[in-house]
Amino acid sequence: MAAAAEPTPLDGLRLVIPHAGRVTTTLREHLLQQRPVTVWLTGLSGAGKSTLAYALEEQLHELGYASFVLDGDNLRHRLNRDLGFSAAERSENIRRVAEVAALMNDAGLVVFTALISPQRSDRALARTLIGEHRFLEVHVSTPLEVCEGRDPKGLYTMARTGRIPHFTGVSAPYEAPESPDFRMDTAHLSLPEACAQVLALLQERGFIHQRSAESQSVARTSCS
Ligand code: ADX
Repeated sequence: MAAAAEPTPLDGLRLVIPHAGRVTTTLREHLLQQRPVTVWLTGLSGAGKSTLAYALEEQLHELGYASFVLDGDNLRHRLNRDLGFSAAERSENIRRVAEVAALMNDAGLVVFTALISPQRSDRALARTLIGEHRFLEVHVSTPLEVCEGRDPKGLYTMARTGRIPHFTGVSAPYEAPESPDFRMDTAHLSLPEACAQVLALLQERGFIHQRSAESQSVARTSCS
């Protein structure tokens, strides 16, 4: 009798049948009283993405919305610890984070991502994986000179002296979005102003609404 052929990865996929739960995203939205969305912050290292994302998370929390930050640096310590900074590894980084953001949106959460995400094609894939209807691309367009002047982690200095290869903006490309949902240059904005602009965008697109004047005034204090 001939030996059975080894199963291929494709056979494996055919043998894994997705199971649909009965608690739908719509039911979760009703429970949480909010519309999930991913705000995808893209820009150079030092542009202010993480600062903005965590301030927005805090502000939304105080307004009564469940939200979560997916931060590139933090994720590279755990989920993405096996990835470096080649173009292919950055693509895999973005793909994984987009899948996590999609799951968090399925669970009903508002998600803020803070990743350089320098490649247009990767951001386009993120939009597809998450879903056009719940994806907002925000370009934190702070210029290279300003980011380099801030150099909060000393990485630009290391990149200029050749101690870090493929550093975005110095020795690796950044492809700016051509038509982002929103663009902001933090060189000309205070943190409260930047937060207010993203909140206004979320409000304009119907993802948040003013729940009460009281919570608004509490929220204002978290962004200062
Ligand atoms: S991305 O390009 O794949 O989207 P990600 O946002 O996850 O990057 O991580 C960027 C962070 O990693 C930077 O803020 C910086 O602190 C650190 N970093 C270390 N090496 C590099 C590099 N070669 N290019 C860019 N960022 C780097």
